[in-house]
Amino acid sequence: MDHPTTEPSGYAVDDLIARDIDAYLDLHQHKTMLRFITCGSVDDGKSTLIGRLLYDSKMIFDDQLTALEADSKKVGTQGQAIDFALLVDGLAAEREQGITIDVAYRFFTTTARKFIVADCPGHEQYTRNMITGASTADLAVILIDARKGVLVQTRRHSWLCHLIGIRSVVLAVNKMDLIGYDQARYDAIVADYAEFARSIGITRFTALPISGFQGDNVTTRSAQTPWYDGPTLIEALERVEIDTARDASAPLRLPVQWVNRPNLDFRGFSGLIASGTVRPGDAIRVLPSGKTSTVARIVTFDGDRAVAVAGEAVTLCLSDEIDCSRGDVIAAADAPPQVADQFEATLVWLADEALIPGRGCWLKLASQTVSATVQAPKYSINVNTTEHMAAKTLDLNAIGVVELTTDKPLVFDAYADNRTLGGFILIDKITNATLAAGMLHFALRRAQNVHWQALDISREARAAAKTQSAHVLWFTGLSGSGKSTIANLVEKKLHALGKHTFLLDGDNVRHGLNKDLGFTEADRIENIRRVGEVARLMTDAGLIVITAFISPFRAERALVRAMMAAGEFVEVFIDTPLDEAERRDVKGLYKKARAGALKNFTGIDSPYEPPEAPEIRVDTTRESAEQAAERIVNHILGNRLAMI
Ligand code: ADX
Repeated sequence: MDHPTTEPSGYAVDDLIARDIDAYLDLHQHKTMLRFITCGSVDDGKSTLIGRLLYDSKMIFDDQLTALEADSKKVGTQGQAIDFALLVDGLAAEREQGITIDVAYRFFTTTARKFIVADCPGHEQYTRNMITGASTADLAVILIDARKGVLVQTRRHSWLCHLIGIRSVVLAVNKMDLIGYDQARYDAIVADYAEFARSIGITRFTALPISGFQGDNVTTRSAQTPWYDGPTLIEALERVEIDTARDASAPLRLPVQWVNRPNLDFRGFSGLIASGTVRPGDAIRVLPSGKTSTVARIVTFDGDRAVAVAGEAVTLCLSDEIDCSRGDVIAAADAPPQVADQFEATLVWLADEALIPGRGCWLKLASQTVSATVQAPKYSINVNTTEHMAAKTLDLNAIGVVELTTDKPLVFDAYADNRTLGGFILIDKITNATLAAGMLHFALRRAQNVHWQALDISREARAAAKTQSAHVLWFTGLSGSGKSTIANLVEKKLHALGKHTFLLDGDNVRHGLNKDLGFTEADRIENIRRVGEVARLMTDAGLIVITAFISPFRAERALVRAMMAAGEFVEVFIDTPLDEAERRDVKGLYKKARAGALKNFTGIDSPYEPPEAPEIRVDTTRESAEQAAERIVNHILGNRLAMI
């Protein structure tokens, strides 16, 4: 490797601004951008190092620093050491304030490159912050305190960076001044790290001996380490190959963000090229439809282009009028991504509430948003030792491997091949909170081999043969609220009218299909999911299905509603207050639950979420079961009088 002997690049910029501002601006505009993350434990000197980089590079667009500099000018410049110390204190304080919520991003630039550095807290409880910072980084600077060597945190951070797909690692052995610039100690640390790095799949890294405090080998070469002939830190950062450059040679992936149709003669598909290179004439394939065409034009704000590469936002016009909409992916025709609806993935849990296996959530991947369900983890991973552990759920900051299913096919690549098309986030459907960040490994083969069988007799035809239209009357309410009693009356009335019905009752279904399920949150979710699927099959058969389950959670009731055709799902809330249900205590279960002999009892130590907008609400303290049943029957008769 060659090492320039000139001044570090930051200083050259100052000159250029003074001499030729246009040349400077031009240079600045065409510089590449490196995003990197600094990892280390609390006193590895992270803030000092970042302060040193910002300070020495001189070109800082950081409000805080400008303010600090202004302050130091007011009191008269007292020399570099004081300004520098002030800066470091400021950075450390700022990071600590924001420690639990976010990652501090700082911007600086040299003549060669622009940089964004993500400064993340290092403790295990901030794993999610680190993952956030790492998710957009091209490079990780792993800081080691030369006095302490490779620590648990060093391993954790390296592993997390590798997991998230950072391909370039710089090992900065810091505080060399405090060990007298001892080469033997440095070599031993590097060898130690190399062995660990290999064990987790990091094949290459750049090691350098530095002192953030003294500035050795940060932006200037140190006279204290004559035995070291590698790059300074800033040189290493300036020279590393950036992922987007590498991604230009990967197969084309353009997730379509929106379709541009200003007039009838123009139809363009816009988005950010996630990987690859595109030229007019290239053969492409649109996923998930699989339709093929060729690129006619590449349109940008600056006019048509002969070529565009990963990282650029473009609009593609195709030579054929094929279907393509937001969420689709335009890909190289001969190397398309995969399409599937069941996957194995690694999840990093980001939410305070633990994962609830089986509960539906939104999954966002590139420009696609689909409904997804995560199964119980296959295992979780101890982030300090990378050991696999048995796990029923994932708590905040936990990492685990799971299987998940989506309600629609997803266009994807393995995360290891493409971070954009393999990385996703999970979002709570009710609170919109981000639940997890994920990395897809592969599609489960069972999904690829099961195909939907198209049938000739439609569900409408089956219902019509019974001269009725299919419905689901979904009863929900506390145990002992009267669901089964009223449901039973409703069925009798419908039957008397010659309707074909079927009553699915909680206590009965739990003797057969669901006898493997108990009353934990996860089991109740699975109970309702299965009942929903059965009800759905029965509506396909044209039946009027009546279900009587506590079904305590809004999310699962919404899931079942979404499975049915519009207007088919009728939510009937049997609104008996807890004290009334408990007073009746038909099965004696409340008494048991109060005595502590029955755990997770709804209303006592397990929640019930009442419906917000049920189609029918029955207050059993004011209306008899008979009256309620009459009203429910009238509701659905009135609802679809013509058919029913
Ligand atoms: S759900 O919550 O999963 O929808 P489901 O309706 O199937 O419940 O079953 C509820 C019935 O199981 C109750 O009516 C009661 O008879 C019985 N049961 C036994 N243990 C519990 C419990 N811990 N919580 C609620 N119901 C229970």
